[in-house]
Amino acid sequence: MKPRDTTQDVFPRAESAAAFVLSQTKLRPQIGLVLGSGLGAFADELTKAVRIPYAQIPSFPRSTAIGHAGQLVVGKAGDVPVAVMQGRVHLYEGYSVNEVAFPVRVLGRMGVRAVILTNAAGGINTEYGQGALVMIRDHINLQGQNPLVGANDDRLGPRFPDMSYTYAKRYREIALEEAKKLSIPPREGVYVGLLGPSYETPAEIRYLRTIGADLVGMSTVPEAIAARHMGMNVLAISCVTNMAAGILDQPLAHEEVLDTGRRVMGQFVALLRAVLPRIAKEIAASRE
Ligand code: HPA
Repeated sequence: MKPRDTTQDVFPRAESAAAFVLSQTKLRPQIGLVLGSGLGAFADELTKAVRIPYAQIPSFPRSTAIGHAGQLVVGKAGDVPVAVMQGRVHLYEGYSVNEVAFPVRVLGRMGVRAVILTNAAGGINTEYGQGALVMIRDHINLQGQNPLVGANDDRLGPRFPDMSYTYAKRYREIALEEAKKLSIPPREGVYVGLLGPSYETPAEIRYLRTIGADLVGMSTVPEAIAARHMGMNVLAISCVTNMAAGILDQPLAHEEVLDTGRRVMGQFVALLRAVLPRIAKEIAASRE
């Protein structure tokens, strides 16, 4: 029996989706962003923007989660051209890990060099408060899935990619510096990705703390792996929308997650706006 090949055709499909997106705009973004639950407003403020519903992009998965609009916006944040995924799909919606990673691969084929992944997360580290913005230093993959499973397509990247530097240190330093300037407490942490969609039990949160996690969420890991596989650099920022299960004596509610996202939105957009030109500069310098 041959192994089931879920990566078949990923490269040509990403290639044609990328060509389609680029045919809709004159901009050639080198930075891509993925906006998480309740964090979509950043894309509303871009200038010279074209908005492409995921349904129009060949092979693109469509998101069903509440609070995820589902369009790719190419536009300018200040002077910096960006490609923004306003909404993402999750494993818990029933998408395959390849579908979840597909948009990031499209960004890669569009010529994007740096991806900024954002998400809503539960705070495991009790030094974080609700609404904290945390730069992801590393991750633990407990989703039981990996977008690189199956035959490797060498045009995307190597069979066994290194994950020692999944989240670019330089980008994290930039984000921490810009956070400080904006009076946002500079925080870093380890994100653990779970399948969801049920939130964790208090016992699971105690376990996750023991194994070194500061934040817990249901996204980001497949996208970060696919981005690194393709040689893109990754900055990932979590918004602590709630303290993880069992930390406070109260149940978790999805509404709370969305509300906190909205409340922190202004700070979050300000941080992204400050970080973008500096990352653009880093990309330019790396090409010299
Ligand atoms: N757990 C998992 N994912 C999440 C949480 C959480 O507490 N909050 C936002 N996303």
